[in-house]
Amino acid sequence: MKGVILAGGTGSRLHPLTRITNKHLLPIYDRPMVAWAVEALVGAGITEQMVVTGGTHAGEFLRLLGNGQEHGIDRLSYGYQERPGGIAEALGLAERFVGDDPVLVMLADNIVERSIRPAVDAFRADPTGARILLTPVDEPEHLRHLGVPRFDAEDRIIGIVEKPDDPPSNFGVTGIYCYGADVFEVIRTLEPSGRGELEITDVNNHYVAQGAMAYDVLEGFWGDAGESIDAYYEVNDFVRAHGANKG
Ligand code: G1P
Repeated sequence: MKGVILAGGTGSRLHPLTRITNKHLLPIYDRPMVAWAVEALVGAGITEQMVVTGGTHAGEFLRLLGNGQEHGIDRLSYGYQERPGGIAEALGLAERFVGDDPVLVMLADNIVERSIRPAVDAFRADPTGARILLTPVDEPEHLRHLGVPRFDAEDRIIGIVEKPDDPPSNFGVTGIYCYGADVFEVIRTLEPSGRGELEITDVNNHYVAQGAMAYDVLEGFWGDAGESIDAYYEVNDFVRAHGANKG
């Protein structure tokens, strides 16, 4: 299984901090944000990774991660997104790197308290379709900033709504997704959304429509450190007090 870490975007929600650096290089406790995603994947046994970034600070990722060995990576590749075109477009840049393997995709601003290994192992056992990680979220105001699944009576996902005005459940879709290698064919069918981006939620809804979407609910803390300045500090406080990626 290959791993793709998405670390692009303009980080506009963290301006002005992100005017001078890439969001995923900002510190979370004792290291740059992206290093936690690398550790999450290595902890799940994924040692072939590609980091996709963009903008004017891409070189800093090389300075930080190098060839990856110091971080437990066997083979580290880099991708460069010419302009922010959405999460799904960024993932599309990893097509040749991923080849015919299943892939775990992680947004580099997502931080988890507990290891993602159980979910990754479940996908390894049946590496087709998609498997996503959900997190319980109680506050409707927070859910309005996320992808939110709708369930049927048997708790199957029957659709995901991106940034819903009226959230259809109390779960958020985290930025951690497993896909079969056919995901790149799905990306090719996408049309840009209202905000001009190729949306990962459209990829996920494709798998929902095929009846090929599985999910796990994360245990422990989950945070999107790129969501707002307050979320950034909430994640920092949590990781400083409790750590992350624990077994
Ligand atoms: C993205 C996804 C959203 C998901 C979130 C998790 O949103 O589009 O579905 O819930 O990541 O971090 P973004 O942070 O790009 O607004």
